[in-house]
Amino acid sequence: MKPTPAASAGGIDSFKNLSLRERTDGTHYGGNALTGGRDSMAQGGDESGEDLVVLDGVYKIFGPQPRGRAFELASSGMGKDEVQAETGHVIGLHNVSFSVSKGEIFVVMGLSGSGKSTAIRTVNKLHNITAGTVMVDGVDVQTLQGSELQAFRRRHMGMVFQHFALFPHRNVIDNVGYGLKVQGVDKAARNEAAMGALALVGLDAYSQNMPSELSGGMQQRVGLARALASDPEILLMDEAFSALDPLIRRQMQDELLQIQSELHKTILFITHDLNEALRIGDRVCIMKDGAVVQIGTPEEILTEPATGYVAEFVQDVDQGRVIQVHEVMQPPAPVDDDATIAEALSVMGNRIGAFVLDPEGVPTHLLTVDDAARAASMGTTDLAPALRTDFDRCGPNDRLNEVYAVAGRGLSIAVCDEAGLLVGNLDPRHIMEEMGRVESLIDDFEREVFL
Ligand SMILES: Nc1ncnc2c1ncn2[C@@H]1O[C@H](COP(=O)(O)OP(=O)(O)O)[C@@H](O)[C@H]1O
Ligand SMILES: [Mg+2]
Repeated sequence: MKPTPAASAGGIDSFKNLSLRERTDGTHYGGNALTGGRDSMAQGGDESGEDLVVLDGVYKIFGPQPRGRAFELASSGMGKDEVQAETGHVIGLHNVSFSVSKGEIFVVMGLSGSGKSTAIRTVNKLHNITAGTVMVDGVDVQTLQGSELQAFRRRHMGMVFQHFALFPHRNVIDNVGYGLKVQGVDKAARNEAAMGALALVGLDAYSQNMPSELSGGMQQRVGLARALASDPEILLMDEAFSALDPLIRRQMQDELLQIQSELHKTILFITHDLNEALRIGDRVCIMKDGAVVQIGTPEEILTEPATGYVAEFVQDVDQGRVIQVHEVMQPPAPVDDDATIAEALSVMGNRIGAFVLDPEGVPTHLLTVDDAARAASMGTTDLAPALRTDFDRCGPNDRLNEVYAVAGRGLSIAVCDEAGLLVGNLDPRHIMEEMGRVESLIDDFEREVFL
């Protein structure tokens, strides 16, 4: 079983969306070593703002005596299957800790039964938990009861689920405004809010239609509009797009990202689909058997899978769609056009090429090691005749797969910022090395897991 980057299953055709959004790369999880990534280690702290949802050491055990022997066994490290065999209790969540920071799309991903829904339901206290704490906007939700809990949910959270039930006998605008109606908002105000939410999901023209007149994708959009209508800070989305056809589903993902770029909600999004997770998540939390296996940015999940379990998931994904040029480029080390060939070669160090810049810093010429060596062997010391202008450029945030084609020429690629200034030197060999590194990492995991 080899990873096949080119023929990735399902097709994540556009990771470009990732770069459209503000990234919140710091991980805010303090639990175990699996969850730290490059960025978190480098930052070592919390720079991307407030944590709005924090699960800390949360256990949820289903059964008649959740705090009895089952909890004792689970908390001493016994796995889900063994605890179930011993006690008949089902572990929904096993010492789960993660934080969702304000404005972030945090995706929880895992196979069916891994505990995703149980996790999201602790946030609005649809479940009482067995141990640990769940804080939402500084409030310990387990302490909330009755009308206080209801008010808290309404004020803070909008929810969208997979099989979102619209009221069949109410038209679209009344469905969207329903939550506001329950809150006692008057009709004019709730219609205005509902129309605003419908416009966000592109359905303002359907406000008077009945749900049965809409397609499945449109109904799901109405569900999203309903969650948005009360302008909650947090959106809880449990497999919200999972029942949709792949094409519609991708449109919905794009729309969610679009809406998010305008509204900056805090979104806890659940899916069993890794492609969807990587496509929309600022960070992704992978769960298995009720426990967190890894938390990281899409890049970290793909390039530094913490366990064989994660590697299994990611092997069908093309890493080239995720890794960005700046991660593998070298510092530019430009050469002066009045330097000698020998001077230029010493500036280049181990680079296979270097760029000559104009006074602004825009690259104008490329000197390759081969051209320099050829010129030197012919007794030339002057740089000018060895310079070429037929070099390629790319941006620091381009994905590796966007530069494969030009990398095939084997020449250094000029990495330029938006103003065209040189910010890096991309060596095609380094692209291949990075891809190879990731592949061998995954191969190693496979050996570990299967041999
Ligand atoms: N109300 C319940 N009673 C008993 N077991 C449950 C209940 N809800 C969930 N579970 C069990 O908890 C585990 C996690 O379920 P769930 O959170 O629904 O997983 P997911 O959403 O990842 O598919 C599963 O083993 C499931 O069978
Ligand atoms: Mg579920």
